[in-house]
Amino acid sequence: MTRPLRPLRHFLSLMDLSTDELRRLIARAVEIKSAPGAGPADTGDLLRNQTAALVFEKSSTRTRVSFETGVAQLGGHAIFIAPADSHLARGEAIEDTARVLSRMARLIIMRTGPHERVERMAESASVPVINALSDFNHPCQQLADIQTYFEHRGDLSGRRVAWVGDGNNVCHSWMNAARQLDFHLAIATPAGYAPNRGLARQCAAHIVLGNDPAAAVAGADLVVTDSWISMGQEREKAARGVAFKGFCVDREMMSRAAADALFMHCLPAYRGHEVSAEVIDGGQSVVWDQAENRLHAQKALMEFLLR
Ligand code: CP
Ligand code: NVA
Repeated sequence: MTRPLRPLRHFLSLMDLSTDELRRLIARAVEIKSAPGAGPADTGDLLRNQTAALVFEKSSTRTRVSFETGVAQLGGHAIFIAPADSHLARGEAIEDTARVLSRMARLIIMRTGPHERVERMAESASVPVINALSDFNHPCQQLADIQTYFEHRGDLSGRRVAWVGDGNNVCHSWMNAARQLDFHLAIATPAGYAPNRGLARQCAAHIVLGNDPAAAVAGADLVVTDSWISMGQEREKAARGVAFKGFCVDREMMSRAAADALFMHCLPAYRGHEVSAEVIDGGQSVVWDQAENRLHAQKALMEFLLR
């Protein structure tokens, strides 16, 4: 298979893009969404007769369907590889898997637990590797979330965003977005559930950490949350249910934000836990646009990595 002459690019973190590249990618995602398959929005048959390997070591609804749909719309075929279907779960080295997949597939899209697994895949792959979520971050979700905010309210630069809940992978990607796009991110987590310290230090100029959701949300242009129990944390359910009391984004909490504030959640959501039904199903919520934009933003991402 012919390989591109340009340097190989992976997308494991939002920081793998320059701010300029990120802004151009978001603009392209908006364009692709505007009239798929027509005029400047045409993505062509970028993946014609080619495959993308989706190596998913964790469950997924949105990420799997958006990548499989996006690959098909680019003229290619997605091969979904669950742990039980491949030799990874039986101990074949990630490095060997990366080399083999690179000989046949044009792209590797990986969802896993430990972030170093996707890094190892990228180190040994000779095709672009996309991080489709790790325990550390979720950069593809972040692209869709940025696109969604831009479409509804314009640039994030200078805005005030509040994160309420767990200092988890999605929170980490919001922290990187704050650096990239120069906005203020107030993070409220229960004590003991703060985001990664090293990343917090790197983002110090753009974030504040605390344990008071009301303070974080005050005057915010956007309120974001996520499940209190991420994949792999199911055994912590009872303890987390206690620790996160008072962190539900409900109408009272949203009333502290700016009058035109938006609400985001990457989904899956658990109504009555991290968010009340009236907020996620209400007029300030843009969660369905976030979900749809996974498709457009990831098509723009694949085009960026492949062209
Ligand atoms: N938001 C998100 O990544 O959803 P899935 O886990 O369903 O892919
Ligand atoms: N924080 C969640 C995000 C799911 C899309 C998890 O890792 O399970």
